[in-house]
Amino acid sequence: MAQTWTPNSWRQKPIQQVPDYPDLAALAATEAKLAKYPPLVFAGEARRLKSALANVAEGRGFLLQGGDCAESFAEHGADTIRDFFRAFLQMAVVLTFGAQQPVVKVGRIAGQFAKPRSSNIEKQGDVELPSYRGDIINGIEFTEAERVPDPERQIMAYRQSAATLNLLRAFAMGGYANLDNVHQWMLGFVKDSPQAERYRKLADRISETMDFMKAIGITSENHPSLRETDFFTSHEALLLGYEQALTRVDSTSGDWYATSGHMIWIGDRTRQPDHAHIEYCRGIKNPLGLKCGPSLTADGLLELIDLLNPANEAGRLTLICRFGHDKVAEHLPRLIRAVEREGKKVVWSCDPMHGNTITLNNYKTRPFERILSEVESFFQIHRAEGSHPGGIHIEMTGNDVTECTGGARALSGDDLADRYHTHCDPRLNADQALELAFLLAERMKGGRDEKKLVVNG
Ligand code: PEP
Ligand code: CO
Repeated sequence: MAQTWTPNSWRQKPIQQVPDYPDLAALAATEAKLAKYPPLVFAGEARRLKSALANVAEGRGFLLQGGDCAESFAEHGADTIRDFFRAFLQMAVVLTFGAQQPVVKVGRIAGQFAKPRSSNIEKQGDVELPSYRGDIINGIEFTEAERVPDPERQIMAYRQSAATLNLLRAFAMGGYANLDNVHQWMLGFVKDSPQAERYRKLADRISETMDFMKAIGITSENHPSLRETDFFTSHEALLLGYEQALTRVDSTSGDWYATSGHMIWIGDRTRQPDHAHIEYCRGIKNPLGLKCGPSLTADGLLELIDLLNPANEAGRLTLICRFGHDKVAEHLPRLIRAVEREGKKVVWSCDPMHGNTITLNNYKTRPFERILSEVESFFQIHRAEGSHPGGIHIEMTGNDVTECTGGARALSGDDLADRYHTHCDPRLNADQALELAFLLAERMKGGRDEKKLVVNG
């Protein structure tokens, strides 16, 4: 029998990845302050996302989730948000066309600040300091003062999230996300790409479809769905004091919701079934993500599914698989089989980033080929198992950074130093992210044609 859940019942459990705040009274005062601040999102929106994800779980949609590894105070600005949103919407259009299904758009944004670290300590030369844990906790600069966890940063992260969300809502609903705009941006990308020839075929078919719709009178003037878009936010629910402060009862349903973002996820390092992060997440009604890495056993996964989604509600749980291009074939099939055997309703999503990080010229990087290869294997394995490859989860930015190698412009190890700006893991730049969408769309379409051949032949 599960014990009574409260927004602070996680405090009775063992916990990983907690910052060492020197002034606990100041921390408590900040959390009390945050608890009085307005929610960032409201429960009805989280429910709407859950029902969109329920369609994905049933095989009738695709989840595109992406954004920064870690948002930062330094990169906060209208241009960064706009450029991300622009790249993300283009990906969504290309994937919608490839999948011939609605694409559910969820950003790693407006709250993605806290980072789990593999070591508590960072060493440079002879100096050892506490590791950087994300701007919501401490500073990235390698100085003693910066690395001290400071509760005031939670207030700054809250305010940045509110401002980011405000602009995103304006973009999504105010006409900027108009399909005609997105289409034009996409054509610009294709024209400038070294792979223009390859992408043009798909782009031309999208253009023809748009022309056809216009010809029969379907335009953004008479169809709001062509000028507005649903866009949701998500982040890792790592800093539980902050999450608790923003946990509120929904007056409509009487249920508890995390109001720090629409969807929250549990990281690969904090998914111990009897620990604090699972305890917190099980009690809130938002859609949840669970990172699944190589160390997760089939039984371990089933135990977590029962804790997080005891009612087996479709849309509640997204399994974000992050094995690595060379490990996915070993680990994914056993998890799919266990979930299918037990009839559990989940969204299967592929995070091709976190299992494919290498070090090159002293930079953490990810080769584009490995990222693509993991996603391709993910699709092939699902096809072979008869399950639905429901989405991708990527780290990306709309800026022209040089953090991941490869792609059509063949970024090399020597290019990494040019514009390596990430505060944590290497992100795909806008071109690489769009390329990934085009290559996937091509394959999704290929997969459908194959299916038709089998059915007809
Ligand atoms: C992340 O998504 O940035 C992350 C830390 O992932 P994981 O928990 O899968 O390592
Ligand atoms: Co990351």
